[in-house]
Amino acid sequence: MSSPAISLRGVRKSFDGGASFAVDAVSIDVAEGEFLAIIGGSGSGKTTTLRMINRLIEPDLGEVLIEGQSAFALAAHELRRRIGYVIQGVGLFPHLSIAENIAVTPRLLGWPREQIEARTRELLDLVELPAADYAARMPAALSGGQRQRIGVARALAARPRIVLMDEPFGALDPLTRDTLTSAYRALHDKLGVTSVMITHDIQEALLLADRLAVMADGKLIALGAPADLAGGDAPPQVRALLDMPRRQAKRVRERLADG
Ligand SMILES: Nc1ncnc2c1ncn2[C@@H]1O[C@H](COP(=O)(O)OP(=O)(O)O)[C@@H](O)[C@H]1O
Ligand SMILES: [Mg+2]
Repeated sequence: MSSPAISLRGVRKSFDGGASFAVDAVSIDVAEGEFLAIIGGSGSGKTTTLRMINRLIEPDLGEVLIEGQSAFALAAHELRRRIGYVIQGVGLFPHLSIAENIAVTPRLLGWPREQIEARTRELLDLVELPAADYAARMPAALSGGQRQRIGVARALAARPRIVLMDEPFGALDPLTRDTLTSAYRALHDKLGVTSVMITHDIQEALLLADRLAVMADGKLIALGAPADLAGGDAPPQVRALLDMPRRQAKRVRERLADG
């Protein structure tokens, strides 16, 4: 069997010298090709966990393995090549064109110009913003949803095997968000990457992910496929969380029937 794409082993992080733990003894194996959603309330440690995978945050304790190798043994540029990262609001450089924004990592990695241009065109096709129309535009000339698509294209530029996403579509209207999350899941399957996405939307997590990691107060309180978590063994707060979309759907149906 091949190594997990990502392996967190007992990772722990305190920002206050050990008085409290933002992330406390979290262990998760993410299989190659898997789509994992991390879900939990605000401040539960989701972002800290994700950023320990690509070493934007160093754990105080525990191990992080990327495809079987210690993340601490990999050079920063090697981690950046292997792991794409998408965050809310994207952080596109406003003074660079769309094509230049997408090319940032390949440039840092020293790819030849023709290869970068070809890859940029390919990526724009992949996120359905054709190069002929979009490559030369500036970020300000795009809608929020289009900018998030560019954020995804940029994260995929150097062909990473792993993609980390921190509430990537959180700021978008619900319809755009639904379209983009479905489009991303299709890309995940097509490219065969491993994805870890933070979301605070349980419905999105249930619809999108192979497994859910549920966090509360820095701890991993449940890890499993939706159907497993809904079963009798899950902690009550996890079952309540998973039951919410169902209760809401029922109330929506009732209210629509009233009309
Ligand atoms: N750079 C930091 N300095 C101090 N405290 C932090 C820092 N980053 C996160 N925290 C704290 O760690 C906890 C977990 O934060 P975070 O991982 O961002 O949670 P989430 O992404 O689930 O909202 C919170 O209590 C937060 O205030
Ligand atoms: Mg966060």
